[in-house]
Amino acid sequence: MPVNSDNLRAAAQTADARDGRLEASRPPVEKNENWKPKIVAFCCNWCSYAGADLAGSSRLAYPADVKIIRIPCSCRLNPLFILRAFQRGADGVILCGCHPGDCHYSTGNYYARRRMTLLFSMLNYLGIDSRRTRVEWVSAAEGAKFATTMNDFAKTITELGENVKLGDLRCKEN
Ligand code: FES
Repeated sequence: MPVNSDNLRAAAQTADARDGRLEASRPPVEKNENWKPKIVAFCCNWCSYAGADLAGSSRLAYPADVKIIRIPCSCRLNPLFILRAFQRGADGVILCGCHPGDCHYSTGNYYARRRMTLLFSMLNYLGIDSRRTRVEWVSAAEGAKFATTMNDFAKTITELGENVKLGDLRCKEN
């Protein structure tokens, strides 16, 4: 079959119809009134983690639902860690690193930026709303930016609701 725009459109419609059928066959998700978003924040040791520390010592409030994981550099984050976090029940995952040009290891955040761009381009295909993950550059002096970013991200995730699509049932607590 020749590849032309009509064929591509027909294939896209078939895929949409199939997705619609799959969506309809899913059991309804019960609304949990006590639900609070689970957010994982991967922070590089040299800037963002210090920024989080500064936010704490400056008594700037950000949601307790944000769980920080310290990593040596933003480039240490394998994109699979993000997918694994979603699979284990995270509702949102954010990566924070040094500003471009300020990486402690010179170029780590440039690698991270490329990897994350690639991951973001595949998220919809994987069934994850791309708003559930984000990259931010936060320096050690930007405690206020760290708190604002986390508040904003938590608000977005709360609006999106629980991440039920990728959750691995084997990882759920009974
Ligand atoms: S050390 Fe912070 S991004 Fe590399």
